[in-house]
Amino acid sequence: MSAAEDVDKIGLKRGIVIKDDWPGYSLDLFTYPEHYHEDIENVYIPHGIIKNRIERLAHYVMEDFDEDKMVVLCVLKGGYKFCVDLVEFIKTLGRNSNRYLETRVEFIRLKSYLNDQSTEDLHIVGSSDLSFLRGKSVLIVEAIVDTGKTMKALLKHVETFQPKMVKVAGLLVKRVQNMTDSLTDYIGFEIPNRFVVGYALDYNEYFRDLNHICVISKTGKLKYKI
Ligand code: HPA
Ligand code: MG
Repeated sequence: MSAAEDVDKIGLKRGIVIKDDWPGYSLDLFTYPEHYHEDIENVYIPHGIIKNRIERLAHYVMEDFDEDKMVVLCVLKGGYKFCVDLVEFIKTLGRNSNRYLETRVEFIRLKSYLNDQSTEDLHIVGSSDLSFLRGKSVLIVEAIVDTGKTMKALLKHVETFQPKMVKVAGLLVKRVQNMTDSLTDYIGFEIPNRFVVGYALDYNEYFRDLNHICVISKTGKLKYKI
């Protein structure tokens, strides 16, 4: 295997690995909503890098889904931006390669976090009937996978509807003890076990309107605590 293939395989499995000591970029170097000025520490992953990495993931998805249809199951609310961007890149790739992959997008809402702490296991908000997945090739799109508990439970639930194939795309995977990274087929970034916000990831519903992924400040944590 050539070095390039080797890197590619690691890149596919672990995503872009962000080390524990990565300090992020100074806020002064980027633009962001003024109202969050005191609430974030740094720009941890700039929006442009997120977008380009997602374009790369779209290539991997196109390689693996060799039929002409797929169902994208977007995990709300955090997954909505990742889902929109990923599906757009898949559509563009299809147009440019004459292999159009028809995407049907469905949504599921899970809730498990209060402040920055994980609460219970799988809690589906609204309908849990996913019978439209039967016989389909499914891509679950989730913003963040940390302990993997939620994803494991969701996968189990999805499997009961007998899809043809299920893959998982996680924009972020946290480097935690007993990581279950094997659950995630397409990883954007592997990050340290820190609480991050932005690009639709929230802290008590705040920060979803921030385009970069950032680390929340002490002030921010206090200000939006409930
Ligand atoms: N940020 C926002 N939501 C989350 C996170 C995080 O780091 N981990 C799990 N849900
Ligand atoms: Mg949340």
